[in-house]
Amino acid sequence: MANEKLESTSTIETIENILDRYPTKDGILISALQDIQNEYGYLPRESVETLAKKLKIPLSSVYGVATFFSQFHLSPRGENVIRTCLGTACHVRGGAKILEKLQEVLNLDVGGTTEDMKYTLESVACIGACGLAPVLMINNDTFGRLTPEKIPEIINNYEKDSK
Ligand code: FES
Repeated sequence: MANEKLESTSTIETIENILDRYPTKDGILISALQDIQNEYGYLPRESVETLAKKLKIPLSSVYGVATFFSQFHLSPRGENVIRTCLGTACHVRGGAKILEKLQEVLNLDVGGTTEDMKYTLESVACIGACGLAPVLMINNDTFGRLTPEKIPEIINNYEKDSK
């Protein structure tokens, strides 16, 4: 109980600090959600509730915005975020097979995060590197002209990096 109270006090402080960066509370919902995500890596429910109260916006509207934009995440993500492209160029060059291999290697569904919080697997519509299709990104690294056979080695390099 004491911990819950502590946590909630710190959430309130965090949100207040974020809101203090803005001269007005009007029209700042998206920016404030971005700030919260920068702070926590995702949008914890308690922080979204606090933000809704502080901005006097219905919670459902805040969640409406948070779920509309794919940049926002409602659950924690792994240390390494893998985004597989399933856009047209990648699709015709076997993007689905790349995704399948990733799912097999990581034992993960799209949108899922490994239990050790090391990897989150996502699919995207296009990451702007169509000439290299099929493509995936891990964090800020881009890998192109992929074949399923290349996937284990790519993942293996991140295993080494995080040791
Ligand atoms: S369709 Fe995959 S990078 Fe554009």
